[in-house]
Amino acid sequence: MSDPYIQELFAERIGGNQYGKSTAIYKFEKIKRAKKAATESKPDLPLIDMGVGEPDAMAFPIVVDALTEAAYLPENRGYADNGGDNFKKAAADYMKEVFKVDSIDPETEVIHSIGSKTALTMFPACFINPGDYVLMTTPGYPVLGTHAQYYGGHVHNLPLKAENNFLPDLESIPEDILKKAKILVINYPNNPTGASATLEFFEKAVAFAKANELIIIQDAAYASLIFEGDPLSIFQVEGAKDVAVELHSLSKSFNMTGWRIGFVVGNPLLVKAYGDMKDNSDSGQFLAIQSAAAVALKNPIITQTIANKYSRRMDHLVEALKGNGFSVSKPKGSFFLYVKSPKSAEINGEVVNFETGEDFSQWLITNELISTVPWDDCGHFVRFSVTFTAPSESEETSIIEEINRRLSQYTFQF
Ligand SMILES: Cc1ncc(COP(=O)(O)O)c(C=O)c1O
Repeated sequence: MSDPYIQELFAERIGGNQYGKSTAIYKFEKIKRAKKAATESKPDLPLIDMGVGEPDAMAFPIVVDALTEAAYLPENRGYADNGGDNFKKAAADYMKEVFKVDSIDPETEVIHSIGSKTALTMFPACFINPGDYVLMTTPGYPVLGTHAQYYGGHVHNLPLKAENNFLPDLESIPEDILKKAKILVINYPNNPTGASATLEFFEKAVAFAKANELIIIQDAAYASLIFEGDPLSIFQVEGAKDVAVELHSLSKSFNMTGWRIGFVVGNPLLVKAYGDMKDNSDSGQFLAIQSAAAVALKNPIITQTIANKYSRRMDHLVEALKGNGFSVSKPKGSFFLYVKSPKSAEINGEVVNFETGEDFSQWLITNELISTVPWDDCGHFVRFSVTFTAPSESEETSIIEEINRRLSQYTFQF
């Protein structure tokens, strides 16, 4: 039992003296509870988890071996701070090899991150004063916006709509908000829509940022997980480095989510400011992890192997959903399939209606033990991730066949 005065000490940004008292249940908790209830009530039906946002497989042996070796080296034992020259150089080389961006100076234009998530928390600390705005796409990964609000900033949401290929309409931002805006956050390939950007969109975004004195943070967590076309970096746009940084991560592209390693690359002043904030927040990622991550970056074939797996799974999933009346098309990258939720499902003359993606997602878990993540921020959708656990191709096929078998009992209306 805590002393009662502790309750009075909490900052307003996390709820003040009401902290911890809310009874609201958040999306991911609802999913967790529904999964638990469903597996208890139907113990014979295996749960198919299409809701997981991280790889189902381990880092590749070449990377694990590199970590083992590097962990034994005495020179790797101490605080890394913002250092790790080997990794910085590997990151700059990776930008050249994978994205054909050859102008990155590893000394001044790259600093590692302990995952992109932490980098997203640090940029608001560098830029946001009370009353400032960040421009964020919605639905999306909310971390930067949450931290901007911690500093008294505001978030202006840019809706991602199917009719605009899930790209934001930059012209829609009201003039008064634009004047107070400092950061434009974009994320392509996108979580959760799976959409990819185009070079034209990046060009437009860079021109827009310059015209309106914004910085751009392009969250590139899925940038090299590509099924179609070439990997895209904002730095393929001439002059992008004047205003932008890109946040790369090894979490998804190298199956290294738990390793906590990525990098911030781009405009040297932005990288420096991030570095200063980082210096005051952490003491750097273990140099042995950085060293193993450098080995990963030197082997982009790893990402291609992972992307091939997701691509194959995506083909099967798209086919199964289409066969059941869903209107879906394969994304060009990421591991997310963003699916418009049906209005109803009918079985033996009985009809169940869905108002929202959440209704559909909860129904799907409860009745058919298929877990997805609902998104109702802008239309009604559910997100399938092809990161479900399946150690072999034949297991992948049988999981998708099982999804098809479960769905085909129903007639869906859209
Ligand atoms: C869009 C997006 N950005 C950033 C992250 C965080 O990645 P990291 O593991 O590099 O912190 C995620 C993870 O799910 C993500 O989906």
